[in-house]
Amino acid sequence: MILKKITIALLFSVSVFAQKQARIVEDFNKNWNFKLGDYPEAVNANFSTADWRTLQLPHDWSIEGAFDKDSKTKQAQGFLPAGKGWYRKTFTVPANWKKKTVSVEFDGVFKNSEVFINGHSLGMRPNGYISFAYELSQFLNFGKQNIIAVKVDNDAQPNSRWYTGSGIYRNVRLVASEKLHVAKWGTYVTTPEVSKDKATIHLEVIINNENASVKEFKLVTSIVNADNVEVANTTSTEKIGAKTSAKKIHNLALNQPKLWNTENPYLYKVITKIYEKSKLIDNYETPLGFRYFNFDAEKGFSLNGVPTKILGVCLHHDNGALGAVENIHALRRKLTLLKEMGCNAIRMAHNPHSLEMMKLCDEMGFIVQDEFTDVWKKKKVTNDYHKDWDAWHKQDLEDFIKRDRNYPSVMMWSIGNEIREQFDSTGIAITRELAQIVKSLDKTRPVTSALTENVIEKNFIYQSGALDLLGFNYKHEDYKDFPVKFKGQKIIASESVSALETRGHYDFPDGIKAWPTKHGAAFDGNADWTVSAYDQVKSYWGATHEENWKTIKKQDFMAGTFIWTGVDYIGEPDPYPYPARSSYFGIIDLAGLPKDVYYMYQSEWTKKPVLHILPHWNWQKDQEVDVWAYYNNADEVELFLNGKSLGKKAKQNDDLHISWQVKYEPGTLKAVSRKDGKVVLEKEIHTAGEASRIDLKADKVTLKNDTYDLVYVTVSIVDKDGNLLPNANDLINFEVTGGGKLVGVDNGYQANLDSFKANSCKLFNGKCIAIIQSNGKKKDIQLKASTGDNVSVGMVTIKVD
Ligand code: GAL
Repeated sequence: MILKKITIALLFSVSVFAQKQARIVEDFNKNWNFKLGDYPEAVNANFSTADWRTLQLPHDWSIEGAFDKDSKTKQAQGFLPAGKGWYRKTFTVPANWKKKTVSVEFDGVFKNSEVFINGHSLGMRPNGYISFAYELSQFLNFGKQNIIAVKVDNDAQPNSRWYTGSGIYRNVRLVASEKLHVAKWGTYVTTPEVSKDKATIHLEVIINNENASVKEFKLVTSIVNADNVEVANTTSTEKIGAKTSAKKIHNLALNQPKLWNTENPYLYKVITKIYEKSKLIDNYETPLGFRYFNFDAEKGFSLNGVPTKILGVCLHHDNGALGAVENIHALRRKLTLLKEMGCNAIRMAHNPHSLEMMKLCDEMGFIVQDEFTDVWKKKKVTNDYHKDWDAWHKQDLEDFIKRDRNYPSVMMWSIGNEIREQFDSTGIAITRELAQIVKSLDKTRPVTSALTENVIEKNFIYQSGALDLLGFNYKHEDYKDFPVKFKGQKIIASESVSALETRGHYDFPDGIKAWPTKHGAAFDGNADWTVSAYDQVKSYWGATHEENWKTIKKQDFMAGTFIWTGVDYIGEPDPYPYPARSSYFGIIDLAGLPKDVYYMYQSEWTKKPVLHILPHWNWQKDQEVDVWAYYNNADEVELFLNGKSLGKKAKQNDDLHISWQVKYEPGTLKAVSRKDGKVVLEKEIHTAGEASRIDLKADKVTLKNDTYDLVYVTVSIVDKDGNLLPNANDLINFEVTGGGKLVGVDNGYQANLDSFKANSCKLFNGKCIAIIQSNGKKKDIQLKASTGDNVSVGMVTIKVD
């Protein structure tokens, strides 16, 4: 790599590169006190928190509560409680921080937070999804004790169409920098030219000088590659007035950059450093990836010049049994599953997600549609964001864009989902205003909005002319007309499908069923609130997974699709009433266990050989059973029951599965896929016999001793040959000893009213999960699972290091 270094920079950098850190960033999650209710006196130093809980953030109090049919949050939020709560923490800062600027950064507090330091209010923030920071310096007692108190008010309900959680549910950091420093979200990196041969890098840095004097300094930009090796740098000598902010610009170039794509998400970093004389004053990191992309009205989307269908899913922010508690390990688990399914894109429904989520999308290679909101001025539910719109939307949108505009994974800004103003002329001005705010901060990505109305005269967001990319939700039958109707426009299916399934539950297909033709109408469903896992039940506005994908895959102009949803989420259990409390739309259930349709996508969206058969093989003798197979990379599949061939089948035309009707007899059902007469894959399922033991499968062997790391253990009951009992519903009791604690249990059943925080969980269709978190002790963890009857106890050991 040839690096252009200015001579003075070379001399300079030798002496100073040894210093790496000037800015101090501390984890501020530990040792908070918490109590439900309203305690305005808690801002005072002499207030006693003796009867408050001590906990580690991130924390969500809603998930700890009981499901209540009469909950103010209602069904859309999963019948869990909300209310008010206070957090309070005592901390000291070193005396020598007196000369520094000290800030507290919150990645998200749901909602209406107000933060107090030593009795002074620092400000309030209604929006629960926005990341924000406050400077504390002028109110701090240096070298002495300080009290920070946070009021959280999530009482006005209902305020959302899905589960939000309540509390300080994302990370908090304390940041100390010198008075001369890079501002919060103060960098903006773009890559005006990118090719395999060369990339140019344009960096804008906002520098704050809070000193009472003019400052001269050196601004150093280094580009480091994924191995932390510097590959380009530049230095400038700068001057900034007292008590002021200034924008500084650096331009760099790099030969043969490694490009970021969804298979090889190669990442660089921009390291910004400020030096006064030769002393490092501040250091700041910005993510960087080299990629170029294009949306085309005829050819759809391309990434780095390669035509690429956006194979996306929408996700809400909750982490299942953990509630809204943000945890990078929980996120990585679900994103890994989605990646293995062939998914290459995530739509952040319908609000800013966490920093960890953004970071993982960068690292794991997901294209992101980053979304601002579900509501503008016109409400969807009584107490939603429309109440804060006038006072806050500008600042919220600006902060959101500034926070996320450096992530290379972000390729679209959605200014809203299914916004009501689509349908009236006020939508025109608001769309233009929002698009202009976005463009003033980032012109490198298209502005889109997820629209439902595709009749031009009725859609005022469209009529504003301010969208670069048209997002359409549902109505896949209409897509074929779009190239003519929206001639020259770039289009993406911003939301599709909304089919419903319960993992492991099978009603034999009798054709595609749509649920009610209007909200609230009776659903001809099952008495136990399950929905068949055959891809046959869809919402009246949606499509089955197969219907949607068959359409999208044939339409080149369509940039791609975002399936509603990748994973079940708490709330919106439509079409069922209480006790259903979580959604049925996921390709993966709430516990993170794939439903069968996962393998349809895997067979279509990946190149790896797939052969999946459903259902399980424990039925009544002579019962007619529909057997489906999802497969790829093969010409045909042959099915055998107890060694006897039931015939070969192959997908015809645009089929996405094949099926047989089989008269059940116990034994072994085996599928064999072949290409050119050669076996590609074989898959067997067996009738499970008597319960023999509890099977525990941990998703990792070693847990980090850091109080955050998680291990997910999948629990099932198997027979003596290891076959899963597909109907087992035993109550499993858990005991955890050593360096971990149980932080959540779930079985993915949408109508399960047992607490996610219990020490036990009922198997549902044979499975459940236990989530264990490091408790900080460096001791191996033992999880003991027992049913209390004659099934032997299951044990698993997880090493802690
Ligand atoms: C969409 C909406 C989503 C979700 C979904 C359920 O119209 O954008 O947030 O409610 O319906 O099918």
